[in-house]
Amino acid sequence: MAKLFESISIRGKTSRNRIWIAPMCQYSCEHQDGVPGQWHLVHLGSRALGGAGLVMCEATAVHPDGRISLWDTGIWNDDQAAAWVEVTNFIRQAGSLSAIQLAHAGRKASIYRSWSGEGAMGLSVGGWEPVSATSEAFPGYNTPKELTTAEVYDSIDDWVQAAKRSVAAGFDVLEIHAAHGYLVHQFLSPITNNRTDEFGGSVANRAKYLVDIVSGIRAAVGEDVPLLVRFSATDYRADGFTLEQCAEVAKLCEAAGADLFDISSGGIVLGVQIPTGPGYQVPLAKEMADEVSSPVATVGQITDAKQAEEILQSTNIDVIMIGRASLRDPYWPLRAAHELGVEVDYWPNQYSRGKYPS
Ligand SMILES: Cc1cc2nc3c(=O)[nH]c(=O)nc-3n(C[C@H](O)[C@H](O)[C@H](O)COP(=O)(O)O)c2cc1C
Repeated sequence: MAKLFESISIRGKTSRNRIWIAPMCQYSCEHQDGVPGQWHLVHLGSRALGGAGLVMCEATAVHPDGRISLWDTGIWNDDQAAAWVEVTNFIRQAGSLSAIQLAHAGRKASIYRSWSGEGAMGLSVGGWEPVSATSEAFPGYNTPKELTTAEVYDSIDDWVQAAKRSVAAGFDVLEIHAAHGYLVHQFLSPITNNRTDEFGGSVANRAKYLVDIVSGIRAAVGEDVPLLVRFSATDYRADGFTLEQCAEVAKLCEAAGADLFDISSGGIVLGVQIPTGPGYQVPLAKEMADEVSSPVATVGQITDAKQAEEILQSTNIDVIMIGRASLRDPYWPLRAAHELGVEVDYWPNQYSRGKYPS
């Protein structure tokens, strides 16, 4: 049996296979209120019907200031949580686990979605002043306000409240977005964190914002909810966040109640060379998996069933996340099963006449 189609359980939640849909922003809350709508239901629901073990909803803001754009989804209020229920119900009925990626964009907030404008959305046209670990702007973006120490503690509570709302909305799994140059990463990286309070300085201090979020969420949601963390395991700069630091932070997160690490890279600065290509982030995930005792997921230009299976066979990586390939083909997992010669029992009954001929 292909490893890709072995189940995996975390804290009693079982994913029917190791193919998880990566979080992908849709910028589709047309009322700019963070409330998911029909687009989200159909988009996410299709990928659950397509056979994924877990469907991860897009970066969803824990505070209105944490939206990348005005069209992002949110989970900072109860109206948003109520609207997510339809999505989590559908994903469950289709046999997938539902996950939400909790997010705060920090200094990378307040931009246009690509089809509504370009670059930063200024304050005079509906944008806002972002907040960050630093007062230094991301190139071309609005200048952020550096959070005071007291505001950092308030922000940690935003994540905890958002996590509670997510569980109430029916999500099986939570992920903290600590990657891609967004707020948590802005605390982790020495490039963007030169704070002198308890949230800056040593690796442990720079990790404190994240570790406090992890332990706060764990205490709030109890022992039955899997909690994942997405990291950028390198800034691709010698003076940045490194794989070694990332492993140290992951271990602190494990001790605080995190269960799986989802390994990505980059995003904190421009102008670095990212060595893209098929499976380009697999070596980072492999090294992280050697360092931590928790399971690890890999993502990035994994497009083919045999490629995905080979990664699981040849490394200690536990889960494959599929992003863009699943935008081309929502039924990627069902096709992968066919290509690997695996009989799965989760073709939707309505689609059984469309099964691949044997
Ligand atoms: C349209 C789109 C939206 C994305 N939004 C998010 C997001 O909300 N959160 C996140 O962590 N990564 C996001 N990503 C990155 C993906 O999760 C994934 O890591 C990346 O696309 C590489 O995987 P792939 O080559 O399989 O697409 C996004 C990527 C795309 C293409």
